[in-house]
Amino acid sequence: MAGSGTAHLRERTAGTMGDDDLVLQVEHLVVEYGSQRGTVHAVSDVSFDLADRETLGIVGESGCGKSTTGKAIMRVPPPTSGSVHLNGVDMASLSTDQLREARTKLQMIFQDAISSLNPRRTIREIVGEPLVIRHLDRFPQSPVIRAWHWFVPRMVRLWRHPIVSKAAGVLLSAFFVGLVLRIAATAIGTEGEDGVRDGGVAATIGNVIMGVALSLLSPIALLFVGGAVIWTILTVLMPVSAIPRTIRLRRARAAFEADTEQRVRRVLDDVGIDPDAALDRRPHEFSGGQAQRISIARALILDPEVIICDEPVSALDVSVQAQVLNLLEDLKVKYGISLVFIAHDLAVVKNISDRVVVMYLGKVCEVASPDDLFNRPRHPYTEILVSSIPITDPSIDPRDAISVTGDLPSPLAPPSGCRFRTRCPRAADRCAVDEPELRELSPDQFVACHFPL
Ligand SMILES: Nc1ncnc2c1ncn2[C@@H]1O[C@H](COP(=O)(O)OP(=O)(O)OP(=O)(O)O)[C@@H](O)[C@H]1O
Ligand code: SF4
Ligand SMILES: [Mg+2]
Repeated sequence: MAGSGTAHLRERTAGTMGDDDLVLQVEHLVVEYGSQRGTVHAVSDVSFDLADRETLGIVGESGCGKSTTGKAIMRVPPPTSGSVHLNGVDMASLSTDQLREARTKLQMIFQDAISSLNPRRTIREIVGEPLVIRHLDRFPQSPVIRAWHWFVPRMVRLWRHPIVSKAAGVLLSAFFVGLVLRIAATAIGTEGEDGVRDGGVAATIGNVIMGVALSLLSPIALLFVGGAVIWTILTVLMPVSAIPRTIRLRRARAAFEADTEQRVRRVLDDVGIDPDAALDRRPHEFSGGQAQRISIARALILDPEVIICDEPVSALDVSVQAQVLNLLEDLKVKYGISLVFIAHDLAVVKNISDRVVVMYLGKVCEVASPDDLFNRPRHPYTEILVSSIPITDPSIDPRDAISVTGDLPSPLAPPSGCRFRTRCPRAADRCAVDEPELRELSPDQFVACHFPL
């Protein structure tokens, strides 16, 4: 594979959300990282959408850009280009506060649940933390503290700016040159009748240099002194200005803590963890499966609309995998959420997904329902993925399985044309020149390949 294109994207219903409306629309997403060896093309023009209460599987081998796609949707870090709309709102257009609010609707869980949970915190604190952060956000900081946060980083940046520091250095040096010239000229100058030594032209030049240097230095000095004065005033006022907020937070504390305790207990119960036994324990006291349940509870506590699950079961035993997958299915219905489910194993996404996106080296190669992908993969890479799933049917010879040869090419220099061409059994000359676009080969099955199966 692989290609670009948006033929598989659906139209968002105008106006209020309907049941089948789109909660997430990702279009032309590009993520590139700068590195010493060049630009890493981690995700290159990836588009997909997610309907309300739908599960979208994203599958592909290690390094194809699945996690990068998930993180770019959350804007950690923001994508290089492309757009992400949550409920029709462009995430890039949001202010910092609006983005923080939007992120409560969009949560992410990771493969290694234990290490994604703070080992020093209790489960009560870990699961309740998003509520605490949101609670604090509801009591805005005083204008003085907001001004301090706005002013100080900018002032420090200005002080450290190379032009400002170089100009200050040059002007200070010029001032001292003028001063030395004036002192030296005066010292060797002729003494007048009034006993004052006259430095002559050299002393005058020294004076002029000092005067020019001082007048040019004065705005920079004002900048430093003014900044330092404002900094000092804000720093002195900060503790006083924080008092009203602290009082309001104290008053709301008892009700907030009771509500948080109740919600943490309820959500732990929903993910199958006994709150009485778990609340005061720490993450390392739980198994991988239990820790993943706890991280799901943490993701659910703010009532999100979308959860991006990045290989949530890849590190778990097969039996535990099935339990966590069933749990996600149940919670999806109970909480009315939509899931983006990332996995490198097509077998895992088969049962949980309504639609599957197959990725290869930062591009999309096929989008279809899991049944269509399994029964009739149309892209050569999907066929290889399907064929690599272990078969329990004894009548099928596992040696008939098609396997992908060679290593994944480097995302530093992806192949031209179709990115799968270096490993594709059907590759032809055209594949090196033209990048295939996604097109609908059968109803709701989209493939980016010049010579599909
Ligand atoms: N911060 C980064 N700086 C440079 N390159 C990165 C960075 N993060 C990821 N990459 C590269 O981007 C590509 C995609 O990485 P990504 O983690 O998204 O792959 P993945 O599909 O999630 O793989 P896996 O299944 O192993 O988790 C890889 O080649 C990876 O090395
Ligand atoms: S046949 Fe060509 S376009 Fe299709 S996947 Fe293979 S290399 Fe890519
Ligand atoms: Mg990953």
